[in-house]
Amino acid sequence: MVYTDKDKKYRRYTVTSALPYANGPVHIGHLAGVYVPADVYVRYLRAQGEQVMFIGGSDEHGVPITIKARREGCTPQDIVDRYHKIIKDSFAELGISFDIYSRTSSKEHHETAAAYFKKLYEEGKFIEKVSQQYYDEEAGCFLADRYITGTCPHCGNEHAYGDQCEACGTSLNATDLINPKSALSGSKPVLKDTKHWFLPLDQDEPWLREWILEGHKGDWKTNVYGQCKSWIDAGLQPRAVTRDLDWGVKVPLEGTDGKVLYVWFDAPIGYISFTKQLKGDDWQKWWKDQDTKLVHFIGKDNIVFHCIIFPSMLHADGSYILPANVPANEFLNLEGDKISTSRNWAVWLHEYLKDFPGKQDVLRYTLCSNAPETKDNDFTWKDFQLKNNSELVAILGNFVNRTLVLTHKFYGGHVPALGNLSAQDEEIVKELATFPERIGRSIETYRFREALAEMMNLARLGNKYLTDTEPWKLIKSDPERTATVMNLSLQICANLAVLCAPFLPFTADKLHLMLNLPAKGWQDAGRADLLMEGHTIGTPELLFEQISDEAIQAQVDKLQATKAQNELNAWKPAEVKAPVTIDDFGKMDIRVGTILECQKVPKADKLLQFKIEDGMGTRTIVSGIAKFYPEPEKLVGKQVCFIANFPPRKLKGVESQGMILSAEDKDGRLVLLTPSDTVTPGCNVG
Ligand code: MF3
Ligand code: ZN
Repeated sequence: MVYTDKDKKYRRYTVTSALPYANGPVHIGHLAGVYVPADVYVRYLRAQGEQVMFIGGSDEHGVPITIKARREGCTPQDIVDRYHKIIKDSFAELGISFDIYSRTSSKEHHETAAAYFKKLYEEGKFIEKVSQQYYDEEAGCFLADRYITGTCPHCGNEHAYGDQCEACGTSLNATDLINPKSALSGSKPVLKDTKHWFLPLDQDEPWLREWILEGHKGDWKTNVYGQCKSWIDAGLQPRAVTRDLDWGVKVPLEGTDGKVLYVWFDAPIGYISFTKQLKGDDWQKWWKDQDTKLVHFIGKDNIVFHCIIFPSMLHADGSYILPANVPANEFLNLEGDKISTSRNWAVWLHEYLKDFPGKQDVLRYTLCSNAPETKDNDFTWKDFQLKNNSELVAILGNFVNRTLVLTHKFYGGHVPALGNLSAQDEEIVKELATFPERIGRSIETYRFREALAEMMNLARLGNKYLTDTEPWKLIKSDPERTATVMNLSLQICANLAVLCAPFLPFTADKLHLMLNLPAKGWQDAGRADLLMEGHTIGTPELLFEQISDEAIQAQVDKLQATKAQNELNAWKPAEVKAPVTIDDFGKMDIRVGTILECQKVPKADKLLQFKIEDGMGTRTIVSGIAKFYPEPEKLVGKQVCFIANFPPRKLKGVESQGMILSAEDKDGRLVLLTPSDTVTPGCNVG
């Protein structure tokens, strides 16, 4: 039985996943929020025998891509070509089973998006408005969205963008910014008239209210419903769907040179244009039949676009279905910090695949079991190791391995007879039968963590059954019952092969091979006769391996290095101190001296002891710079600056008569100050 939103039975499923921007690779945050849950969902539906289409692709327009290209001195097309390939290949390697993974720079997409716009234009669905937009007179162009930066009027962040402040999350208009600046030339932009087309979202409010707030109360996730409600309650405003830019889908009207469709107008149409690429003439039923269920998998920052703006575009056309559900997730953090592409604070999928070859399912498992379904969650490498070692290895891998090894040992790899069932065995059979429906119900209601935990509970049930019955002992006293136990344990393995497949497709394939089990559908699961008596199983292999402390430490070190680098990048000179007078300065007796001797202070790691010629004789000064001068004898003969009128004080038993001056570099390194030419020892600095 298939449970569906509001119990409606659908004939086919159109499942989309947010199109990642092709200006960087994909990271674990994208995976946990969007692609892993979406893939679990579609794999499950396919196992149910449903007709499913799973759409993915790269979002290749938008200002961040053009800014990156400009910075790197290449074309936007170069940028999207590079990342589209990395993203597409890494998704494929992780087993994200898109039916198509296309891109919005493709010709077919441009045609579809332009035609979509044109139809709405011709039907009078837009408002045309001349408004004032910022224009960069030096660069000679209008500045859309991220081409403008300035101070956020809400939180004072000085690096807010023309469309959004990332510090406080407010969505902005460029004209809201205080001290606007062009990201192109740095100049102060001027306001200039320009014509654009707007989607009159204000007119959509009544039906949006009815469709979402009344129609989807209870079946849409509370975070999604809540965001929609606050947008609608705040009052929807007309939204510009064109921009003055030269990278994107050209506005298909006369006299609109230099104008393209807004990236958030063209990108979701990608779902439709990719369907056309995949299905040809047969595409319409996937978007226009009432018995097609449309589901958008996205992250929370995409909610308004998929629940309000894209639906209003679909509604304006009039021939499309609307999403039945939009199961948006919250965000995944990494080791307690927000994932950030610009700060390189991420675990990148393509790097993970290189560092952990053959361990796709470990990542899928960790991300699914930790998916930020109801609140933001944290990924840590320690937790990743723990989930592998004490769940995948110790529970699932261990159960399957024990069962298969014993089957080879006792029965030469043949499935033994089921025989007569004891009350305990009956109980196992009964419980086993409940799993497919339990897991399925959780998946269909987008509770993927719960679904995965249920699947693991079946492996736990198997482990407990073996531990309770101890077939390795029982074989001596009761071979008949042992056969029953082993038969049922093998049936549990076969069920696991089917039921783990949406989550762990590589493991499922291995397990099918090891059991010599032909492909089965979800409907076959739950039965205790998937493997017939006498059936020959294959060779057991370990499904999972331990992940070592060293492998984890290497990843933690890599992140530490990133953090250190970020701190360096964020370095700024200290604030200038409160003013002083020349008299204040004159009180400091700063002089130049020549180093006569220099050595480490015994039993003090940090200290160097200098003997300095100061024109009047010699003095000893102790300085905490040993770490930065590992060969102190090499300093002999150099001149340094020192403060001559500090009262003497003892450091580790040595009396220090002054203080040697040094500069502190941004990484904390101390460097001695030496005059640019040799001077007479004892002369003053001022
Ligand atoms: N590129 C967008 C993002 O990463 C998502 C676009 S989804 C689509 O936030 F529907 F517009 F395609
Ligand atoms: Zn702000």
